[in-house]
Amino acid sequence: MVKTSELSKFYKKSIHERLSILEEEGIISTKDINLLRCEEGSAVLGTLDTMIENVIGILPLPIGIATNFVVNGEERLIPMAIEEPSVVAAASNLAKMARKHGGFQADVVEALMIGQVQLVDVDDVSEAIKEIRKHEEEIIDLANDQDPILVKLGGGARRINTLSMQTGMGTMIDVHLVVNCLDAMGANAVNTMSEAIAPFLEKITGARAVLRIISNLAIHRRVKCTATFDMDMIGGRSTVEKILEAVEFAKASIFRAATHNKGIMNGMIAVAQATGNDTRALEAGAHAYAAFEGKYKPLTDYRMDEEGNLVGVIDLPVSVGTIGGVIKTNPVYRTCLNIMEVTKASTLSQVLAAVGLAQNAAALRALVSEGIQEGHMKLHARNIIKTAGIPPEFRPQVLSKMLEGETIRVDVAKKIYNQLRKEGGNLVS
Ligand code: MEV
Repeated sequence: MVKTSELSKFYKKSIHERLSILEEEGIISTKDINLLRCEEGSAVLGTLDTMIENVIGILPLPIGIATNFVVNGEERLIPMAIEEPSVVAAASNLAKMARKHGGFQADVVEALMIGQVQLVDVDDVSEAIKEIRKHEEEIIDLANDQDPILVKLGGGARRINTLSMQTGMGTMIDVHLVVNCLDAMGANAVNTMSEAIAPFLEKITGARAVLRIISNLAIHRRVKCTATFDMDMIGGRSTVEKILEAVEFAKASIFRAATHNKGIMNGMIAVAQATGNDTRALEAGAHAYAAFEGKYKPLTDYRMDEEGNLVGVIDLPVSVGTIGGVIKTNPVYRTCLNIMEVTKASTLSQVLAAVGLAQNAAALRALVSEGIQEGHMKLHARNIIKTAGIPPEFRPQVLSKMLEGETIRVDVAKKIYNQLRKEGGNLVS
């Protein structure tokens, strides 16, 4: 395991220096470095050609390392792939405030996925459900016959749940096949099993099966994670109080709750993208779960402890895998999992929940303090300064003057630089 995820001044290093630090720590190899630097681009492109149809190229995203994370006592460096500035810095910052109080404590509530079979044209619902109950073992065996390897490893179909429902086209039965997918996200296994049991369900119920597909509302694959963010580091008691007010606002306003939850997903999706997980499945599951009790709610909650610290909790479905799916297709995913030192899907899901909680707390802290734009603007201004061709030794001065002036544009950066250099030459055009 990495000795510490607290990498001092990591953000100030060059890409080359950051990679060297990870290599010195024994976290990545030269091969990984070549992959991360896209120096094995053509090899990767070859494997990506068969990933979707009509491939013409690749779209790289920056991968940043979130630092300072301790999850269930383990130091974790967390790769995040995302286009949005401030996300990696914000997660690292709040992880630092949590590590003072032991970091993040995460528990996987359960680790089961649901496959749905929709039964229509049901003559007698209670009779049909009785038949399904009677044949539950056979249905489970039939499902498990589809994936002997999963079963051998200790996973497989576990139980059947049934729900009857009135719809605009008559009564239907929603059959849930509940499956332990172990370290896979499980869409392939669950879909295959659901398709396999459908004809048998038709036979025993006399009904007609229509849809046979995984549900992305993975209520049986949830993670609960808590952390205590230090009061002094977060900005004092009044900041904690304002955060609690912001959370109450999210509980009362669906408009705010949607944005609150979007901030959580900023972090989780970035880790999912870095590790080859299905980001849309995660999003769908999180938002549906937010509305599970009939009212769309924030996925985190907070309180103040006796010392005035902010205690946060997140509880949501996290269906991710460390094997299967597209993870094998692109070697960079494996490198990112290695950097995180994660092999089990359950550990990955705990890390995702921790990052989601940190990201949310970071957004709330910024929103109740300086506002969200300041951090964004700084990074945006840094990019503009680079685009303007300002030499590195002048960048800090140009940055602070441009932020003072509040107009972040290439021409403004050049103007400031030219003013600074008026007497010395070396103007940029
Ligand atoms: C921006 O990507 C995310 C935030 O809007 C989240 C929030 O408002 O909590 C800052």
